[in-house]
Amino acid sequence: MAYLADPQRYQKMEYRRCGNSGIKLPAVSLGLWHNFGHIDDLENARSVLRLAFDNGITHFDLANNYGPPPGSAEENFGKIFKDDFQRYRDELIISTKAGWGMWEGPYGDWGSKKYLVASLDQSLKRMGLNYVDIFYHHRPDPETPLEETMTALDLIVRQGKALYIGISSYQPEEAARAIDILNQLGTPCLIHQPKYSMFERWIENGLLDVLQSEGVGCITFSSLAQGLLTNKYLKGIPEDSRAASLRGNGALEEDQITEEKLSKIKDLNILAQERGQTLAQMALAWVLKDQRITSVVLGVSKPEQITDSLECIKNYQFSEDELMRIESILK
Ligand SMILES: NC(=O)c1ccc[n+]([C@@H]2O[C@H](COP(=O)([O-])OP(=O)(O)OC[C@H]3O[C@@H](n4cnc5c(N)ncnc54)[C@H](OP(=O)(O)O)[C@@H]3O)[C@@H](O)[C@H]2O)c1
Repeated sequence: MAYLADPQRYQKMEYRRCGNSGIKLPAVSLGLWHNFGHIDDLENARSVLRLAFDNGITHFDLANNYGPPPGSAEENFGKIFKDDFQRYRDELIISTKAGWGMWEGPYGDWGSKKYLVASLDQSLKRMGLNYVDIFYHHRPDPETPLEETMTALDLIVRQGKALYIGISSYQPEEAARAIDILNQLGTPCLIHQPKYSMFERWIENGLLDVLQSEGVGCITFSSLAQGLLTNKYLKGIPEDSRAASLRGNGALEEDQITEEKLSKIKDLNILAQERGQTLAQMALAWVLKDQRITSVVLGVSKPEQITDSLECIKNYQFSEDELMRIESILK
């Protein structure tokens, strides 16, 4: 049956302005790094995307290499988009990225103009889109001059293949330089996508200040630490979890679930229960409490995880006492 989105969807979500731009993003966005590849179930992926949009998630985040195999998340998204979302194209912010290894030889990785332009052309074909809303440089390239990478991003916008530009995993100083070059080129940086969670705090040491002073938005990834900051690993490693799935490509692995981490997760889970939240909800709320965060890009393997996680926007206020307890658990 043809998909018709829930007419109440925009009442269910909070939208935050992305830096000083004209764009607002949902406080929770959906990422397609895992669970959308050819090794995954296409109908489950479709259910997740539909439920996300029905709840006001207007932003889907992809990259050239998502799968596995690389490229297959974009292909599957393209199929589902064609069936279900074409009529909603103007209600969606679709992003993709290039910067990690994608094809063989010297032109399929890092940050050259050659790679970025070719990669976005391939991504657009796989997704069946004329343009993406945001195109990111996925990680800094120590060898390519930053001017070349930023000029490539500016070119892509001028060609109409992307509306906005983002950078991902840039450290504060290189982010500031990239933002400056993009400003000079006349294509301001819309957004930065860093890793940020209770377990990964580096952006508090300078990056958030740079983004705020430059009027650039911030969308965090792996804010559940790939599932660690949920209650799922408290009683062992479930068969259907990411840690058990041997997906490779940076996915959570069993040996990362240490006793030390588990003890913190247990204590955090107790606090979450006292707050009337699941641990997933509290971990996302803890990120969203900072208004400098535009959105968290959430990964899910099942539709129920969308329903559960989205409750985070109902309470992201923390008392001083709760914040201090979290700090002492994380120490
Ligand atoms: N820019 C970059 O370099 C970069 C890098 C990584 C990711 N990202 C983006 O960020 C997105 C999210 O990354 P991520 O998948 O690592 O993030 P995450 O949100 O930290 O982890 C997602 C995993 O958490 C579990 N989960 C989610 N909601 C849950 C709930 N309510 N209860 C229990 N478990 C729950 C699921 O694990 P199970 O699969 O075990 O069920 C899900 O697959 C990616 O899809 C991608 O778009 C960007």
